[in-house]
Amino acid sequence: MPLTLRNIELLFASPLLHFTVPESAALNRDLLALGDALRDDSQGIQRSNRNGWHSEGDIFEEDVPAIYTLRQWVDVALEAAMDKLSAKGDGPKPRFSVEGWMNINPQGGFNAPHTHPDCHWAGVYYVAQPEPKGRNGGMLEFLDPRPELHDYKGLRVKAFQASRTLRGQPGELYLFPAYLLHWVYPNETEEERVSIAFNAKLLPPEAPAEASTEAPATKEAAA
Ligand SMILES: [Fe+2]
Repeated sequence: MPLTLRNIELLFASPLLHFTVPESAALNRDLLALGDALRDDSQGIQRSNRNGWHSEGDIFEEDVPAIYTLRQWVDVALEAAMDKLSAKGDGPKPRFSVEGWMNINPQGGFNAPHTHPDCHWAGVYYVAQPEPKGRNGGMLEFLDPRPELHDYKGLRVKAFQASRTLRGQPGELYLFPAYLLHWVYPNETEEERVSIAFNAKLLPPEAPAEASTEAPATKEAAA
């Protein structure tokens, strides 16, 4: 009697969602202009950026149409992610607080390995991505959080692969769990690599609207 394989279950998966934003050429042109203006005003701040510029504060507070547009696409992506991945039910629709920043990596710029603590989703939208010179130039690499996975390489099992690299193109948006360790390979070209990264943190469910205790002043007002 043969052994019956009933099922193969992939446990504890980390979803990586890949979106394309429509009509992104004009959007990216405006975002590049915004980046130039912000960089003229600020030296930027130090986070995971190495030899690169990281904008100050929340870029989604910038009062420009391109930022409103991108912010809306971030909301659409979050909603799509939750719609695809959440258990179906009548529970409250998840709401997120979102904040973002711009990364500009000139030649030699890269981002050191990091996670995005204290939030749930992390994401990145690509504004400009130079044609690479080398194999890994400008790539985003995710590192598998399972600590002993390096011992599994010889098995050549895709479910045990320890890293995943991608080179996001302008107009592409990626969403992933904020706990995933990731980093960006150095930009080897003379053109700048520009992205807008963001965090999304789940907000507590909205309290139900309280019923008014005031009686309508007149019959007409109640109509
Ligand atoms: Fe990041």
